[in-house]
Amino acid sequence: MKVLAIETSCDETAAAVVEDGRRVLASVVSSQARLHEKYGGVVPEVASRAHLELLGPAVTEALGRASVTARDLDAVAATIGPGLVGSLLVGASAAKAYAWSWGLPFVGVNHMEGHLHAAFLEDPLLSLPTVVLLVSGGHTYLICMQEGLAGKVEYRLLGQTLDDAAGEAFDKVARFLGLGYPGGPAIERAAAGGDPNAVAFPRGLAGQGYDFSFSGLKTSVVRYMRANPAADLADVAASFQEAVVDVLVAKARKAAAATAARAICIGGGVAANTSLRQRVEQVCREDGRAAFIPSRAMCTDNAAMIGATAWYRLRTDGPTPLDAPVDPNLSLPFVN
Ligand code: KG4
Ligand code: ZN
Repeated sequence: MKVLAIETSCDETAAAVVEDGRRVLASVVSSQARLHEKYGGVVPEVASRAHLELLGPAVTEALGRASVTARDLDAVAATIGPGLVGSLLVGASAAKAYAWSWGLPFVGVNHMEGHLHAAFLEDPLLSLPTVVLLVSGGHTYLICMQEGLAGKVEYRLLGQTLDDAAGEAFDKVARFLGLGYPGGPAIERAAAGGDPNAVAFPRGLAGQGYDFSFSGLKTSVVRYMRANPAADLADVAASFQEAVVDVLVAKARKAAAATAARAICIGGGVAANTSLRQRVEQVCREDGRAAFIPSRAMCTDNAAMIGATAWYRLRTDGPTPLDAPVDPNLSLPFVN
């Protein structure tokens, strides 16, 4: 079964062709980062207009690279939430139009479920239960992915952020430090030559359950810079990154032990961070657990993960009606 998948929830215009939920025949991502750079963040109206221009060419390129035509496809999928409403509407409306005109089923996909399924594309041996640390620009979740009935996968929410998402913290601190946008890669670059132990920034909610808090850390960076205007930016960036990675890894490790998880998996844009990737691998090695660390391209937004999830959802739930709306606040279907 071949699925054409479209992802336009934020500032990446992406199209992919995925076979049987596992094999990526083509994955095209047109980043709009440069368009938004001068504003220091994503401007929703600019993003929607750019999606309109970039989506057609991205779909044509994905079909071409996969050497398939509409006749070879079995379904068309698109992200229907969460995300920016205008951006979601461009991708979902296009996918519905393709599906309708080609006589194919449409599958609406939850973007966060896409991130959860991304690891399966690169690691078919991923075994459950697995603790997933899902860290993006809008969300920070600690989830136990476990087997449910009839081949279904269940998501149990263990913890989430009480204020800023991890990626949001990177973006806000990078902006404050004048390092540019997007903040995650900018902080990572700046931190490369710095000392992660130079400044003892707070570890929010350390040792207190599985929830996260990053707003106090952000405020600490601001206070520190005001008190030490000549501070070495590399040291500050490295110390900030260390504080974020520390709490993320400590809580994921604890959650994996408590749920007897076979592995820890990471996903979402922040999972592209080298320090986080190395630390997760290290604690898994120490604890005798597997670590599923998807490639960086599979951590950040892409349409292949939407195609993988669509294949799974088509089998469990069937097609999505063409009049299904997009939902900017769509939540993951958690079990208790
Ligand atoms: O999953 P994603 O591509 O889009 C959302 O669904 O939000 O995540 C984007 C977030 C941004 O906040 C970005 O700064 C962060 O992921 N990010 C990183 C890195 N690359 C992207 N954060 C830390 N280190 C990175 N290398
Ligand atoms: Zn994302």
